[in-house]
Order: sequence, then C-alpha cells, then structure tokens
Amino acid sequence: MFLKKLAKHERDRRYGIEYLNYTDIKMDNLEFNYLQATNSYEKLLPLDNKKNNGVFYTDVFLARQILKSLPISQKDVILDPCCGTGSFLFSAYQQGYKNVFGADIDKKSIEISKKYVPNGNFIQIDTLGASYKKIKTAFKLQEVDCIVGNPPYSVLNSKTTINADEIFLEEISASGNNLFIAALIRAFDLVKDDGLISYIIPKNFLHIDAYSNLRKNILKEKTILEIIDIGQYFSNVRGEQIILTIKNSLPTKKHKIIFKKLVVSDFLNPVAISQDFYENEIIHFRSELEQDIFIKLKKSFCALSDICKGYIGRGKSKHISSVAGRDVRKFGYKRTVVPKAGNQIFIQNIYSAEAGIIAAFGGNLQASETITILTDGSEEMCKYLLGILHSKVCNFYLQKFCYNNSKLTMHSDAKYLKKIPLNIRDKKSFNQIVNCVEKLENEYYLSFRWYDLVDELDKLIYETYGLNVEQKNFIELSMKESFSSRWYKNGK
Ligand SMILES: C[S@@+](CC[C@H](N)C(=O)[O-])C[C@H]1O[C@@H](n2cnc3c(N)ncnc32)[C@H](O)[C@@H]1O
Repeated sequence: MFLKKLAKHERDRRYGIEYLNYTDIKMDNLEFNYLQATNSYEKLLPLDNKKNNGVFYTDVFLARQILKSLPISQKDVILDPCCGTGSFLFSAYQQGYKNVFGADIDKKSIEISKKYVPNGNFIQIDTLGASYKKIKTAFKLQEVDCIVGNPPYSVLNSKTTINADEIFLEEISASGNNLFIAALIRAFDLVKDDGLISYIIPKNFLHIDAYSNLRKNILKEKTILEIIDIGQYFSNVRGEQIILTIKNSLPTKKHKIIFKKLVVSDFLNPVAISQDFYENEIIHFRSELEQDIFIKLKKSFCALSDICKGYIGRGKSKHISSVAGRDVRKFGYKRTVVPKAGNQIFIQNIYSAEAGIIAAFGGNLQASETITILTDGSEEMCKYLLGILHSKVCNFYLQKFCYNNSKLTMHSDAKYLKKIPLNIRDKKSFNQIVNCVEKLENEYYLSFRWYDLVDELDKLIYETYGLNVEQKNFIELSMKESFSSRWYKNGK
C-alpha cells in the first residue's frame, strides 16, 4: 500500500526494479521512510541555498543502479564525500556493502544519513575546502577503494565559494571554476591508486572549452571506464547529466571507454571507443557507424574556420529595423525581403534538434543579438554555406558531434559553426549548390517545390562529402528521428 503514497516519479522508477522476497519487503518499509525523510528535508531547503550549494539529492533508484554497475566488492571502502542525505550509502547498505563512509557540509543532512544507514560512518566536514589529509584523518581512513556520488554543481562566484588554499582554488579556476570540478579533483586525491570514482556530473564536461584542462588530464592520465548519458535526469537542475566512472590509473594503449545510455530503468546500448581516440572533446558515439561518419567528415575535409576568415558572432545592432532571430526562416524571412547583395549570413541563434539550422542570406542588412552573423568574402560563398548549413549532413554533424546529442535547446554559436566540414574543392557541386539555394530563396516557403529543392540540395551535399549508401541512410534515419515532420513534404 505504501507505494501509492510515493511521488509518481519515484513509484515509476521503483516498478522497474526486480521484486521482492520477504526480507526485501522489510527493507522497503525502511526505504519508504527514508524516501519520506529525504524528500521532506529537500523540500524545506531554501531555493537560493540549494542553487548556491548545488543541493539536489539523487533518488535511490539511480544510486542503486550505479552501485550495481561498478566492479567493486562488498568489503571495499566506499565514500561519498558530498553525501547529502546519503542515497548512495543507503543503497550500498541495502546491497550489503560493509564499509560505507559519508561526509557533507550540511549537518542536518548528515543526521538523516546516520539515521537510515545504520552501518555508515558519517561526519560533517567541508570536503571541498579541507585538505584530503584532513578528510582522511577525520574518518581514520587509510585507503578509499571507491568514491561515489553526485557532487554539487555551481559556478564559483560571490555567492558560491570554497574555503580552500590558493593553489587548490587556482587549479579549479583553470579547469572551469565549478564546485563539481573541485569535487572531481578532490576525489583523485582521496581515492587509492587503482581505485574507482563514479560521479554524476554535468554532461557538458565532455565537450565545453571551460573544462578542457581537467578533461585532457583525465584522458591522458586516468582510465575512463564508462560514460553513461542519463539525459536531463534532475528536473530542477539545468542541463543534462552523465555518470562518469574513472579508474585512478594510467590508461593502457588498448583501453576502450564504454559509452551507454539510460533507457527506462537500465544502462543500455554499449559502444566501445578507444580512449586514445580522444585528445580533448569526448563525443558520445551511439554506434561505430556514427564514429565512421565522424572520421570521414573530419579527416577528409577542412573545417569552416579554415575557409571563412570573416566575422562569426552575434549581431550587435539595436536599430529598430535590424533583423531579429524570430524573423528568419530557412532561406528567407517572414517580413524582410532577401537582399540582393552583400556578404553576410544570418542564423537564428537558438538551435533546436527539431528544426536544425534556420538561416538566410543577410546581404547588407543589420542584425540584432538574437542572430549569429557569418560573414564571408563573396556572395556566392554565402549562398554555398547557406546550402550546407541547412543540409541533413551538417545538422547531423552539429547535433551528434558538436552538441553531443543534447536534447536541449542549443545556440548556433561560432565555436560550433567553425567546426562544420566543407569540401569547396568540388567546384561542380559548389555551383550546383549555389544554384539550388538561389532557387529556394525565390520559391514559396514550404511549398511542394520548396521541399523538392531541399531534397535536391541534400542529394548534392551527400555527394560532395562522398558518403556511401549506408552512411547516407543512417543520417537520413537519424535526422528523421530528431527533425519535426514540418520539414518533410506531406509531413513524412
Ligand atoms: C547534488 S547534492 C548530492 C547529495 C548526494 N550525494 C546525493 O547524491 O543525493 C550535493 C551535496 O553536496 C553538499 N556540499 C556542497 N558543498 C560541500 C562542501 N564544500 N563539502 C561537503 N559537502 C558539500 C551539499 O550539501 C549537498 O548535499
């Protein structure tokens, strides 16, 4: 009966889990009481405090799945250094782990952990500010086999600070200045050689520039065992998350990272990619075919930044007549006539997986800051780029390899656009693409003829990149999954 009283999402997740023998039922009462205690405590916390200190607790379901997936034994020392109300350690206790340790800066959350994890060792301590020696001494711990948890995420600023020494603060600042970066670095200090760290962290750790120092160090010096994409798991946290599991040891030459995805209640779709394939950004390939397409497009062609040396950035005009993002549509405008001359492309700055790039020839018009402007030397080149930008190949490349399969709204910013591969040596198709774009500019928007021209453009662009039938079909299928039916003739 008590299941009915649980919040709906908790209930849905619970039903995904194996059931139940008599001892489990007793456990479940404990779990129910635990969930009540942790949920009501989290609700009491002021929103400002939660945001500044990155407080959002992990549900027992996910904590349990993560622990089950780790290659650890029941005697291992498991530590969650930012344990909150202790969902990881509660799950560890349920699964029979003997040596569980938890710390948190928040005294009340530690009291809840103590109450529900009878075999746990808990202390209230600032694990991001204190030295790792102090933390180990406080626990009387020699070695930590495994660090788990969901560390706080929040950018360091006047409201979010860490009370640590200058050297540590500089290290954090050089790697993205965020609480979760501090937690990751601390975890490497705390865990034994060859020990494991399994943390839920923001997915953008995999690809954004701010985190590149730490990411590159991890790629070079640690063994990444698994990366699991869990999407936007926490409804009240911005962005998407991953589970990153790392072994504190040098990677071997042949080591492969296993990528997975959370599907309903399991970690599925494993794909193995050599760790040494990555130097900096870590792309989550969903299949080997995806990786092949990436290699083909990246290695065979130059990037847009090699060819376009003009301005790529936001519009700056505040003039009333300047074009805004919402006025742009594919190959034209809602209220503005496509100009005859000039060398700018206007791109809606908001990028969604459903629509892909939405851009038009900007000529000599002025653009507001909701537009990304791409300026190039010639009008012809602008038309060619407009064709490429709207192609399925280009949108596939952006979604998969630049936005790392994010389901959220992204921005068509310079750093992503600059990576788009181009094959301008193919003069014949260059002219055909320009020609097709000019026809699209003069065609009635979303008319049958307009859709036919878009198909023609796609065909030309598949050819120019020399993609084979399998690769082309795969891109078509992937884009059909993400593009809205609006972009298909008759909605199909
Ligand atoms: C995202 S919550 C996760 C809690 C728990 N690991 C879980 O998964 O449910 C992050 C936790 O980090 C704690 N925290 C924030 N700053 C801390 C610090 N400097 N030292 C220790 N804990 C900290 C917060 O109080 C919060 O409980």
